[in-house]
Amino acid sequence: MDGRGLLRSVKALGAGGPSLGLRAVRAALRRRRVDASALAPRGAERARVPGAVTDVESGPGGGVIRFARSELRLLVTVTGAVFWGWDGAGPEPSYALCGAAPEADPRAMLEPDKDGGWRVVSERITVAVSRYGGIEVRTPGGVVLRRVEPPRWWESAGGGVARWVQRAEVAADARFFGLGGRAAGPRLVDGTYRLWNTDPGGSFGPGDDPLSITMPVQWVVADGGTHLVFHDTTWDGSVSLQEGEEGDGSGHDRPGTVELRCDGGPLRCWVVVGAPARVLHTWVSLTGAPAVPPGWALGYQHARWGFGSAAEVRRTVAGYRERGLPLDAVHLDIDHLDGHRVFTVDRRRFPELPELARELAADGVRLVSIVDPAVKAEPGNPVFESGRAVGAFVRDATGREVVGTVWAGESVYPDFTDPGVRAWWGDWYGERLGQGFAGFWHDMNEPVSFAAFGERTLPRSARHSLEGRGGDHREAHNVYALGMARAAYEGVRRLRPAERPFLFSRSGWAGMQRYGGTWSGDVATGWPGLRASLALVLGLGLCGVPYSGPDVGGFTGSPSPELYLRWFQLGAHLPLFRTHSALRAGRREPWAFGEEVVEHARAVLLERRRLAPYLMTLAQLAARTGAPYARPLWWGAPEDRALRDCGDAFLLGDALLVAPVMEPGVDRRAVHLPAGTWYDAVSGAAFTGPGRVRVAAPLSRAPVLVRAGAVLPVRGADGGVELEVWPPVRGGTGGGLVVADAGDGWGTSEVERFTTRWRGEGVVVEREGGGPVGYPVRLREV
Ligand code: NOJ
Repeated sequence: MDGRGLLRSVKALGAGGPSLGLRAVRAALRRRRVDASALAPRGAERARVPGAVTDVESGPGGGVIRFARSELRLLVTVTGAVFWGWDGAGPEPSYALCGAAPEADPRAMLEPDKDGGWRVVSERITVAVSRYGGIEVRTPGGVVLRRVEPPRWWESAGGGVARWVQRAEVAADARFFGLGGRAAGPRLVDGTYRLWNTDPGGSFGPGDDPLSITMPVQWVVADGGTHLVFHDTTWDGSVSLQEGEEGDGSGHDRPGTVELRCDGGPLRCWVVVGAPARVLHTWVSLTGAPAVPPGWALGYQHARWGFGSAAEVRRTVAGYRERGLPLDAVHLDIDHLDGHRVFTVDRRRFPELPELARELAADGVRLVSIVDPAVKAEPGNPVFESGRAVGAFVRDATGREVVGTVWAGESVYPDFTDPGVRAWWGDWYGERLGQGFAGFWHDMNEPVSFAAFGERTLPRSARHSLEGRGGDHREAHNVYALGMARAAYEGVRRLRPAERPFLFSRSGWAGMQRYGGTWSGDVATGWPGLRASLALVLGLGLCGVPYSGPDVGGFTGSPSPELYLRWFQLGAHLPLFRTHSALRAGRREPWAFGEEVVEHARAVLLERRRLAPYLMTLAQLAARTGAPYARPLWWGAPEDRALRDCGDAFLLGDALLVAPVMEPGVDRRAVHLPAGTWYDAVSGAAFTGPGRVRVAAPLSRAPVLVRAGAVLPVRGADGGVELEVWPPVRGGTGGGLVVADAGDGWGTSEVERFTTRWRGEGVVVEREGGGPVGYPVRLREV
């Protein structure tokens, strides 16, 4: 560990008192000992490449191509997604897929290609495999999107898992996105990004990588087309990206390169090509529809590590009410637990939690509980005892329970890769529901064990069920939090079948959207942290996880009133809008920053409430199509190169473009607009894209632009939905969608479509398919 890492660990442990520091030394030593005796050193290694093609077996959607030293399974599916797996790997078993792999496209067949290679031609993609195992992904028009070199494995003489590397070239103009939540994004600059879910310890900024959610999901956006590649392996690895360089037009471009190195696991991947919306639609058809949060979770939520008592929670909620600041949920952190033990309550400080929950609910404020996975290992702790009785905890290679150290002290870890353990854990949410909690905040689930040195997680040799297949932490680590989310989601569904569970989790993996969302973890307070928090939300959205948001104001220290307000304005336009901070950090209620901030924060909160029907529509559309609520500016125009490089503005659905202020002392800012006419949401001033414009950004608001012709469902003065209509350009048309809130259960609403156009001197709004519009219409003057 470098000096900075050590300093961070010590700082992070400070919050737990000196004995935690000593335990962290013991935990680190234990971890090292366990791994030293269980994991043999790799010894001498030999490289292997596939060799030349020997024969081919055609099957539906592709087939198997055999090489001298490997075989490749190729499958084009009816969704248009393509799978390939080396050494005979198939799509399953997989933690990312939401069910069985989609069916093979019966029209796609293996056919001979040039120079002894083979190819599969389908409607949306052509995959060509060379005689030595190189793979080209081409568009139907013949543009090469990705040129993958034959893989290379390293095998040690004594057996064991093979490491592998897969290198590919992409277009010289391509830009990279995705890889889970990356603080340096959304455009991923040249560098190496690790695939190992990691608690940065303390706090993080844009230079810190990896963080809590890593995913081998690469987006490549180029003039020739957009594609997503998902390497379905959970093992530790890294992705090295290098953007290409275009030459002088004489054909001497330097392509971009992607190199994926993995410490083990199957070498298999999925490739999806097409327009961004289509790519993400296919991606969630593979990995699952994003859970729709209950309506209240699209409101404003306030958390604090260190409320310290029910009285302080009441005082805080009253503070919001008295100042006319709408509040929808309060989150209780680990300080409400009895000695930090999961599924307990400190009854001295929170004597009547169900009563408090009822009281707040009557005011429209829900309670959300933190849930950490580690269970304090002490006789008499019912969670520990009941877990032990079902053999729930992760063991080492000798069969002993692995003991780590977290807030509660020495703790053991449920093995969420075991279906029986998931069922046992899921039942414990009954205790939380009984206390009156309406939602769950999963934390420390990378998983974390404090360590004075070395990795802050479980030993790599720790054993896991992996759904009965058996394996160790090297394979299970990255899906630990995904399993925890599944356990909670399924448990809460069993316990409260009539309601949609609300859960968000710090760590996770591809497919986590099936169970809920996430938040940006311990982002450092400061302008760079503000930028990083937007990068994380946009990157995760592209990986299929649309519901997330930052700790508004940053996790550490105390933001200036200006920084706090700018963060508040950004947070208000992201799916999860939540203020939160660390135990010894400053407070994050708006009134901690003075009267002017309170005034502006009130306007922000009222606007968030007004936009509730739009946000619910976006949540419902995300579940149907995978389209994230918050999208990069290039979403509808990936061919616009300037937009690919913009990380300081985003689209909120189809209608809004949000340009948050991310630097101090400004009252105007530049925005790169996608094509079309856009109106300033407050002044109505019109701007035309594509191109760069300057917009007003007074301290009172983040610039928000509305697409000409947009139909926006908003909450009217009477609480009902009304349509806010922005004029299309003369001679043009526009429109919008509405998916009504069907309550917090499982009811569904139809997608209602509306169009706008000019008729004579007026703008008319019509329901697609005919019939009355059905909502009051408010036409905005511009
Ligand atoms: C780490 C989490 O990221 C943070 O949000 C939380 O307040 C602390 N753990 C304490 O539970």
